[in-house]
Amino acid sequence: MKGLDFETVTVIEGKAEIIVPKLDYYRVSPNEYVPSKAPVFYNPLMKENRDLTIAVASIMRRENGRKLVFGDSMAGVGVRSIRILLEAGWDEAYVNDNSERAFASIVLNLERNGLVERTHASKIDANLFHAEHSSPGTRFDMLDIDPFGTPVRFLDTGVRAVKHGGLISITATDTANLFGVHKRAAKILYGVNVFKTGFMREMGIRVLLKTLAEAAARSERGVEPIVSVASRHYVKIIARVLKGRKHAFQTVSKIGFLRVRRANGIYEPMGPVDLPETGIGDSCILLGPLYLGEVFSRSWVEKIAVETVEKNWMDEKISKIANSLLLDDQKTLGGVDLVGLASSLRISPPSIRTVIEKLLEKGFQACRSGFDANCIRTDAGLNDLVKIVKSL
Ligand SMILES: C[S@@+](CC[C@H](N)C(=O)[O-])C[C@H]1O[C@@H](n2cnc3c(N)ncnc32)[C@H](O)[C@@H]1O
Repeated sequence: MKGLDFETVTVIEGKAEIIVPKLDYYRVSPNEYVPSKAPVFYNPLMKENRDLTIAVASIMRRENGRKLVFGDSMAGVGVRSIRILLEAGWDEAYVNDNSERAFASIVLNLERNGLVERTHASKIDANLFHAEHSSPGTRFDMLDIDPFGTPVRFLDTGVRAVKHGGLISITATDTANLFGVHKRAAKILYGVNVFKTGFMREMGIRVLLKTLAEAAARSERGVEPIVSVASRHYVKIIARVLKGRKHAFQTVSKIGFLRVRRANGIYEPMGPVDLPETGIGDSCILLGPLYLGEVFSRSWVEKIAVETVEKNWMDEKISKIANSLLLDDQKTLGGVDLVGLASSLRISPPSIRTVIEKLLEKGFQACRSGFDANCIRTDAGLNDLVKIVKSL
């Protein structure tokens, strides 16, 4: 392809027609593809991640008559920005990537999709890109941060590049850190003590939100999560950014520890602990600090569920994710891994639905976790849960 020094193919994603590196660049074995090996990053499997951005942006478009501007700090081939303009009807996009080849691909793709007039391509470091958009009149209605691995080093500048009431969308692919597999890295990057539990996906989301909340507070801003997802190898959160000390304080006040108790090889969540509290008893361990507030907004997720049905080219995974979030009442934190519990009791796992019904019959709160498929959220203690599981 003219202007690019590598072989390309053209793919259709949503309403965008995109020039991307030839698939062979990604291939590390006959059936395994690693997009980071390609001259420019494009991962077809991350369409579901981009679909979620498009769904949220489309809802925002419908609810706002004003001009909407999108910021794409690490745009790869530019596919997300192009789709925001073509599918969600946004007005303008700033499309940035610090790689020479990514920049060349962005320029070609914007031309091919007839979007040169409505876009601004750049080739600078993401933190500089954010800084250039951090004064009034230059900020974004939505900023997307999608690096390789952890996004932590882009959060402080990122929140300042979003308008009051605008959205910040963050993807993290260092799930081993967020899920407590690499405890040291979690401590270094996120400042948390975490370990692998049966509710590790929810925990990873709470770690990332805590880190975003702290970054926002440093610039006297608060954040309100509208949707959080842990899927495949990534965690993604989209949150509203609100300027002002009041919002900053409300957000950081939701940071605390979760007490967990380990019994029979199972971690049982024991409720939140405020930051200053230290007396935790012998059998409990503190997990965190974590963001302990709601990690998604039910009204937003309801709208996302409708949006994904209306836009029938969207990945069905997004509608599945939205529907499983809608089963989650977020009334308790974490959950008990039913498969792990059954295995520790040396019995086969009962149906999660039956266990929830039994818990509800006995007057406990109980629902599925929207994040960890085998988890039950409940205010019942482990002893009561074990009795129910054994009785089935
Ligand atoms: C995961 S890819 C982005 C994929 C893209 N957002 C999409 O949806 O297809 C990460 C991109 O970030 C770029 N990048 C990495 N570090 C950067 C930095 N410090 N500033 C700007 N871009 C960066 C890389 O060149 C790469 O294209």
